[in-house]
Amino acid sequence: MSKFAKLDLGDKIIELPIIEGSENEKGLDISKLRSETGYISYDPGYGNTGSCSSAITYIDGEKGILRYRGIPIEEFNREKPDFLETAYLLIFGKLPNKTELDEYKVLVGNNEHLHEAMKHHFEGFPTTAPPMAMLSSMINTMSCFHPELLERGENEGYCMTASSLLLSKIRTIAAYAYRQSRGMPSIYPIPSLDYAANFLHLMFSLPNKRYEVDPDIEDAMNLIFILHADHEQNCSTSTVRMVGSSQANLFASCSAGVCALWGPLHGGANLAVIKMLEEIHKGDISAEKCIEMAKDKDNPFKLMGFGHRVYKNYDPRARILKKAGDKVLAKLKVKDPLLDIAKKLEEAALKDPYFVERKLFPNVDFYSGIIMRAIGIPTNMFTVLFSIGRLPGWIAQWREQVKTPGVKISRPRQIYTGENKRSYIPMKDRK
Ligand code: SDX
Repeated sequence: MSKFAKLDLGDKIIELPIIEGSENEKGLDISKLRSETGYISYDPGYGNTGSCSSAITYIDGEKGILRYRGIPIEEFNREKPDFLETAYLLIFGKLPNKTELDEYKVLVGNNEHLHEAMKHHFEGFPTTAPPMAMLSSMINTMSCFHPELLERGENEGYCMTASSLLLSKIRTIAAYAYRQSRGMPSIYPIPSLDYAANFLHLMFSLPNKRYEVDPDIEDAMNLIFILHADHEQNCSTSTVRMVGSSQANLFASCSAGVCALWGPLHGGANLAVIKMLEEIHKGDISAEKCIEMAKDKDNPFKLMGFGHRVYKNYDPRARILKKAGDKVLAKLKVKDPLLDIAKKLEEAALKDPYFVERKLFPNVDFYSGIIMRAIGIPTNMFTVLFSIGRLPGWIAQWREQVKTPGVKISRPRQIYTGENKRSYIPMKDRK
């Protein structure tokens, strides 16, 4: 097959190199398009545009395939899922052996405390402060306390230190944000607890009453973090790469990623799904009526947790979370009407021509909130948990970009549609 595509502009024909990935994905390299033709490409929302090449995560949206460093996502849904093992795989490109994983866990454990001065920042937030606002600002604040990590390190040592520190402290910051909003006293991590168990302890323990972590809930927490760990060039990860491309430090880049994830079309959808299900439950609205509203262009109602820019098949993460939801609710003996409503919505949507034609399926956010709700996570913390899960992906993608030779600052072009040249009008002459 020719390694070039021909672009015929009428007065000129140019050849565009064809690049191919390890899964036979093909792309047109247009990096010389403007210099050779004066034209730029035009692709609002970047639905057809590759911003980079990456070896971290592979998605086949048509087939509903997701792999972390080549390993199918389904294989992480196992006995005792381990978020830090997945984080290590994504960031360093290999499954750690027992020694490597134990050493990494010690590094993460050594970093779980916040500087006492950082803790005082929480006292300055109102109890109504959105936890995502606290999270993004406190991740950036970490750079004030770790100036030694502001350099853009390519070596493994830098990444070991920076990633273990960020992964550990995001969990503490998240829990403190929750406690601040509830007027709960601060509490310290317990070194003997594993990552997810310590998070639940930091969230729910009281000085006089320790939260006992149920092993099945700990497994569910690990699984939720793992399923959110990376997803190639989504909005928030592209934001992390964009900020990192200016050679900004890792804290600033991840803080920007939190802000991008906050939106209801992205990570904020998990919260929007629960709000939608609660309204349906309260209004006793039938699934059929919801589908009709979702199809009505004049109705602002959208089936949150449905549809995806890349998946035109069932999001494999949603399939796993749907099963995990049944298991967790059964274990906790929780009967959540919202889960039944979600299943009825899914059933109705998947046989409706509007959804079938547009290939709209449940995505990762459709069932995740129901599990978090059953565990006792408040809805305004759902996207914070998504951030904790996504952090290793952001770190891995940021590091991959830092290590890419010759990487340039990201700076898209535009098609200008404003006024043509005109003169300044002095105030006295304005109407
Ligand atoms: C995440 O990119 C990632 O990888 C993201 C993510 C990750 O792990 O990082 O997977 C996490 O963000 C998942 C998505 C969470 N968002 C939601 O659940 C919000 C609801 N979904 C939609 O807003 C929408 O599906 C998007 C934003 C997810 C994708 O939007 P696109 O690709 O821009 O598609 P579109 O909005 O142009 O929709 C195409 C058509 C439109 O109809 P027509 O104009 O063709 O008539 O499908 C319709 C849309 O109106 N449509 C929906 C719908 N989603 C799309 N109609 C009703 N309900 C929906 N949910």
